[in-house]
Amino acid sequence: MPNAAQAHQRKIVVVGGTSAIAEQCCRLWVGEAPTDLILVVRDLGKGESIAADLRVRSPEAAVTVLQVDFLDPTAIGACIDAVTAAGPVDIALIAHGWLANQQACQTDLAFCRDVIEVNAVSPALFAEAFARHFAATGRGTLGLIGSVAGDRARKANYTYGATKGFLARYAEGMAHRFAGSEVKIVLIKPGPTDSPMTTARKARGLRVARAESVARTVVEGMRRGRPVVYAPPIWRAIMLAARHLPRFLFHRLSI
Ligand SMILES: NC(=O)c1ccc[n+]([C@@H]2O[C@H](COP(=O)([O-])OP(=O)(O)OC[C@H]3O[C@@H](n4cnc5c(N)ncnc54)[C@H](OP(=O)(O)O)[C@@H]3O)[C@@H](O)[C@H]2O)c1
Repeated sequence: MPNAAQAHQRKIVVVGGTSAIAEQCCRLWVGEAPTDLILVVRDLGKGESIAADLRVRSPEAAVTVLQVDFLDPTAIGACIDAVTAAGPVDIALIAHGWLANQQACQTDLAFCRDVIEVNAVSPALFAEAFARHFAATGRGTLGLIGSVAGDRARKANYTYGATKGFLARYAEGMAHRFAGSEVKIVLIKPGPTDSPMTTARKARGLRVARAESVARTVVEGMRRGRPVVYAPPIWRAIMLAARHLPRFLFHRLSI
């Protein structure tokens, strides 16, 4: 007969499991302990290739890939219900995001709406789907990847920044909802990080943190159930200064 610890293998669900930051988190998680890992993705082939790599790295991990339409509330609800019906989830990470062209958001309203839906509406729906499960089980950790761009909007990417600001408020409200319980809501705010999202800006000289190092901060912050995790941590101080810069000075910056 398996004992209780053996009977429950840690279960982690990662939405946007093809993200470079999320992939590095997964490597850490499957390396730490036997894990039942579910990657929720929009591109099945890409998800399967990441899953295959994780299985080679950690043969004791059980890695499954689920494809879902990230903008369909019914599909999102059904996907997370199916995942949670098979047993309690310990950790969920919502990682997907789209750093879209700001000029296009300003000129093409349908494009602008798509960006807002992918970055704000979709993560909020996934978060609610997980939250109803965590409310029922009374425990679990939900991480949402926001961004330092959500701390103060700027002309270069304010549509994206505004969606990340929305996620910050959403996580804040959820944290209030679950305060005093064993359900932890963790808002993650990466600074510029080396991933496909930043390839073009990196080529133009942007300094980026390594995704592996950002992932270590994310995994540790989620383990501790920290309400807000800046990754790398130095961005907490940088954004404190940026948020408090007077508007008349901020508006002179071409950022
Ligand atoms: N890299 C940075 O500098 C940085 C800084 C702050 C915050 N972040 C945030 O960190 C998270 C992870 O990003 P990353 O750096 O790991 O970038 P990434 O490797 O480019 O991953 C982006 C993820 O978002 C998914 N995605 C993109 N467009 C989508 C769409 N239209 N519909 C559904 N999913 C979509 C991608 O799916 P596919 O693989 O199918 O394309 C992928 O899973 C994102 O939320 C991002 O906003 C990143």
